[in-house]
Amino acid sequence: MDAQGLRDAYVNFFIERGHTYIRSASLIPENDPTVLFTTAGMHPLVPYLLGEKHPGGKRLVNFQKCIRTGDIEEVGDATHLTFFEMLGNWSLGDYFKKESIEFSFDLLKDVLKIDKEQLAVTAFEGEKGIPKDTETAEHWKSHGMREDQIFFYGRKDNWWGPAGQTGPCGPDTEIFFDNSQKKCGPACGPACKCGKYTEIWNNVFMQYFKDKDGNFTPLKQKNVDTGMGLERVLCMVNGAKTVYDTSLFAGIIGKLEELSGKKYQDDMRSFRIISDHLRASTFLLGDGVVPSKMGQGYILRRLIRRASRYMSNLGIEGVNMQKVSEVIVSEYSAAYPELEKNKDSIYSQITAEEEKFHKTLRKGLRRFDEMIAESGGTKQLDGEAVFRLYDTFGFPIELTQELAAEKGYNVSVEDFNNRFKEHQEKSRAGSDQVFKGGLADASEQTTKLHTATHLLNAALKKFVDPNIQQKGSNITAERLRFDFNLDRKVEPEELKAVEDYINEVIKANIPVVCEEISYEEAKARCAVGVFQEKYGEVVKVYSIGNVSIELCGGPHVRSTGEIGRFRIAKEESSAAGVRRIKATVE
Ligand code: SER
Repeated sequence: MDAQGLRDAYVNFFIERGHTYIRSASLIPENDPTVLFTTAGMHPLVPYLLGEKHPGGKRLVNFQKCIRTGDIEEVGDATHLTFFEMLGNWSLGDYFKKESIEFSFDLLKDVLKIDKEQLAVTAFEGEKGIPKDTETAEHWKSHGMREDQIFFYGRKDNWWGPAGQTGPCGPDTEIFFDNSQKKCGPACGPACKCGKYTEIWNNVFMQYFKDKDGNFTPLKQKNVDTGMGLERVLCMVNGAKTVYDTSLFAGIIGKLEELSGKKYQDDMRSFRIISDHLRASTFLLGDGVVPSKMGQGYILRRLIRRASRYMSNLGIEGVNMQKVSEVIVSEYSAAYPELEKNKDSIYSQITAEEEKFHKTLRKGLRRFDEMIAESGGTKQLDGEAVFRLYDTFGFPIELTQELAAEKGYNVSVEDFNNRFKEHQEKSRAGSDQVFKGGLADASEQTTKLHTATHLLNAALKKFVDPNIQQKGSNITAERLRFDFNLDRKVEPEELKAVEDYINEVIKANIPVVCEEISYEEAKARCAVGVFQEKYGEVVKVYSIGNVSIELCGGPHVRSTGEIGRFRIAKEESSAAGVRRIKATVE
């Protein structure tokens, strides 16, 4: 079975069982400034898991492109990937444990032809206030799974989510492929890392909402959220040794062999790093991310530059990334048509970044060698010098760390971060968080853009049409993007009035006030709210003088003066009856 065969088989199986197929969402999350990337199929569905009605109904299925950057340094081994695809099916307040387990069992048995003897499953062992999930175990038993194939674990292993800092979550049942090697000891089970068990599917019984203070409250509707890693399953059903030995990577690795004149077996680590990073980069560029010093753009830059360095390890000289990207675009466009649509900008951006890096790499490496010579045998690189490599030569800190490690040197990330903050007042966006792996980017820049989004929402109502409502919002470290209902283009004079007004509000340095008030009071004060169903009795509102009042979880700047200059970069159509504005703050 190839990748497209697996995507089709999965989707069709669930369509036959009443599910609606939905397209993969962007890698850049809508409506969630607390994470950089879409990390799971459920992520774009958060509003619907919280009670919003989905146009596709209560049963959904898809394959979703995802990026997780927590393990970037691990990429190169047999299993880690930054970009991956997740097959998923959802029940939005419809079926629950029984049907979910039945669907999973039948798909594994009938579609993927996996014998139940090769499976092991887990369930939540319970904790104070949440009972042991014997119901799940009983459902598995009803399909003939024996007690010794069913394992109970605690929160660490059998609880999923939320995807960001807040959101829906719950206990899960995980399904493992047992590759029948011997148990490594009496306690060996699916939670063991010895290699006997490979996780293939995770069915989350989503019943709780975690708020920003860490409280769990029951959700209004009980959902099922499942996720199956496409690469792993493809590997398993084809009996491949690693994900890199599946058809997903054959074309990419083949192209790299051709460009380098080397064989994959000669240097598997370099081949894997380049393949993974260029796959992730091509998809990120396809979703409109551009290499930069901040946020998503910084991760993209880091991926491209790390790939470039390993390409030179393989002896691939010159500008070649586009050639690899072309293979990815051609192989993945059937499933992800945005790649074909955006291929011109993907190629021009990847080439520009590669050229830029080549120019600085040589100079930077010379400087790096000098630094080693100047270090006087301390085995520690000075933070100021490491910062210079970043600032002047565009070396991501991780690259310097890797180069240093090769020579047995240490780099103090803390020292670097301090300099980074001192020197880069303006581009501070989430540096610490980004280095930690791309999560939790509630950075200064995105916070400013978040408050600016509230001002834009208010100004559009005031100067363009009082009936305007937010249809979508997306914030990266560089810009905000705001979608709203309107049947016509916004005239240039209107845009200017909106922009001028927002800059006046910024200049007036109006405090942004957060209050917790009753839902009724919020309504009486005409607070704007997008997904009102998710809020309980008491809601949090942010108000900005008499300019704006919105239901919102934050975070926001303390007063508008912190935002800086607001500029509308673009106004365009987004969908029928929906306009889109992109804006920046400087
Ligand atoms: N959200 C769960 C996961 O990522 C199931 O899709 O594993």
